[in-house]
Amino acid sequence: MKVLSVCGSPRKGNSEAILKRLQKLLEEKGAENEIILLRNKEINRCLGCVEYCNHKLKCQIKDSMQAIMEKMEQADAFIFISPNYFKMPTGLFKDFIDRCSIFFTAGKENIFKKKKAIVISVGTDSIENIDVCLNNIADNFCSTIGLPVVAKKSFRSRSELKGNYEDIFDKELNPTINKDLKELVKKLCSGME
Ligand SMILES: Cc1cc2nc3c(=O)[nH]c(=O)nc-3n(C[C@H](O)[C@H](O)[C@H](O)COP(=O)(O)O)c2cc1C
Repeated sequence: MKVLSVCGSPRKGNSEAILKRLQKLLEEKGAENEIILLRNKEINRCLGCVEYCNHKLKCQIKDSMQAIMEKMEQADAFIFISPNYFKMPTGLFKDFIDRCSIFFTAGKENIFKKKKAIVISVGTDSIENIDVCLNNIADNFCSTIGLPVVAKKSFRSRSELKGNYEDIFDKELNPTINKDLKELVKKLCSGME
């Protein structure tokens, strides 16, 4: 089973720390996992040139997205994670989402039907607030590309890391995070070999 994790944080922080912890759990289950840090990739903004993509059924921008989309086609499952910025995913993650529209334009949304995703968001506000960002990714992005979401979870963070890139694992902030992450992996791996 190949799991592709996509991280929307523009910095090394909580989102990345969660993905690294999930990677260990996935490896314990015998799953392959690649983490894509969008911040280290060249993701240009969608130009909205539908006069091109609607007819050619491909995107004319040449950057890191071609390789990422190939990996998405090959993956069995996904983990999408983004910090909550104003109840929305980061601009970086939104650029990734917009560029994925080519799957839809090219009529390839069926390729996601048999794959699975889990969605995670982190933020400093209440869980209800972070959930708005979370549901944005799960209900809008994943459902539009036809990708079933098997589990989703928001976690609370501190805004300033102060050198501690793993503060999301602070027991006061997220007392059940280790159990929650195990549960997410269990749901992602269920029924897959
Ligand atoms: C531009 C900006 C906007 C933010 N807006 C919110 C917000 O509306 N609600 C919230 O809960 N956290 C907000 N945050 C805090 C981040 O979501 C939080 O620090 C998160 O842990 C960052 O994740 P990371 O460490 O993976 O980068 C904002 C942070 C930035 C930089």
